[in-house]
Amino acid sequence: MNDFIFYNPDKVYFGKNQLGHLSEELLNFGKKVLLVYGGGSIKRNGLYDSIVKIAKESGIELFELSGVEPNPRHSTVNKGAAICKEKNIDVVLAAGGGSTIDCAKGIAAAALTENGDVWPLVSGGVWVTKALPVVAILTNAATGSEMDAWAVISNMKTNEKIGLGGSALIPQAAFENPEYSYTLPSYQTACGAFDIFNHVLDNYYLAGGATFDLILEMQEAVMRTVVKWAPVAMKEPKNYEARANLMWASSMALNAILDGGTVHGCACHAMEHELSAYYDITHGHGLAIVAPRWLTYILNETNAPAIYRLGTNVFGVEKGLNAMDGAKKAIDALSDFCFGTLGLLPTLTDLKIDKTHFKAMAEHACMGGVITGPMELRPEDVEKIYEMCL
Ligand code: NZQ
Ligand code: ZN
Repeated sequence: MNDFIFYNPDKVYFGKNQLGHLSEELLNFGKKVLLVYGGGSIKRNGLYDSIVKIAKESGIELFELSGVEPNPRHSTVNKGAAICKEKNIDVVLAAGGGSTIDCAKGIAAAALTENGDVWPLVSGGVWVTKALPVVAILTNAATGSEMDAWAVISNMKTNEKIGLGGSALIPQAAFENPEYSYTLPSYQTACGAFDIFNHVLDNYYLAGGATFDLILEMQEAVMRTVVKWAPVAMKEPKNYEARANLMWASSMALNAILDGGTVHGCACHAMEHELSAYYDITHGHGLAIVAPRWLTYILNETNAPAIYRLGTNVFGVEKGLNAMDGAKKAIDALSDFCFGTLGLLPTLTDLKIDKTHFKAMAEHACMGGVITGPMELRPEDVEKIYEMCL
């Protein structure tokens, strides 16, 4: 067990009747608000109208940046930063999924730079300690961006998708109303659910002997929650309990509570970000294709007990098997969950991805070194894992 500091200043308003607190949160920072949103889902589900009404009633001057893409582009972030500079924006309000919240965080950081360009911050690995305040209204249980210090930004010209991190990027407040996710299509629900699961899975194994029992138990509880409630939300999109469990699981998975002194692992994420950088696929779907292959590739005598534990404690695999057989059953159960229960297509070939860029992607995923985790992965390992996904 390592020493650790837990820090997360995000104030979360969770539940059906919390948006009434939006104006007081925004007015903490000023009256000029940049509302950032995506392709229109917030207009269709009524959230946009609620925000405009609240702004009008409280004397908030609302500016807008719409059209944030899934896998948000640095060019869109820069448009938002330009508005902030021109209009002297006080606070950036994101209303949407992870892409919208990440875009808002990028805007908040870039707005305080001299030229308003986010890409030098992203590509330079700058830890952001100065940014405009961000307030988030979450509509998709998935990325944890509503409570974490990260924004993942894509540059389609260079095929790069990179995380921008910083203490200043943690939202000042997050509004989580499970009802706002009722309109999510089944596919997005499945992809978001697996993203949550994988945030924990990537970290679970890295923890190894360095963690402590409470953290492992909490990690397993979050993964079990996803396994239990994702299929319910897919079948019954307006099931409040299912949406609420997924939404809070999204935040719990990445708000640092489950780190507990471990170094946060990201093996599948490092490999997936290359897939969405090159092919613009949905993040959670890419993760679901990679994760079972990653576990199959790294399975050995040393880590078999940990993988078997995932099987027994998350998927209900029978106890008492030898570790290697149990671990294989755990991986089978994970595959069944991804491709059976969640109904996600199981291969990269299904997504029309072939091996053309695997070498370059593998090298970039390792960023000149190795991907850390229960087994260190070099570019040649990553390439083999991509091939297993075909
Ligand atoms: O753009 P709109 O119209 O809002 O539609 C979105 C989009 O088409 C739609 N959607 C969201 N909420 C909806 C809804 N449709 C109907 N009803 C609703 N309530 O869903 C589509 C996908 O939205 P997006 O925001 O892209 O999904 P997600 O939340 O999964 O975010 C994915 C992005 O976050 C990054 C991913 O890499 C990807 O770029 N990540 C961010 C992380 C972070 N900040 O810490 C960590 C994650 O690992 C991840 O990498
Ligand atoms: Zn993720």
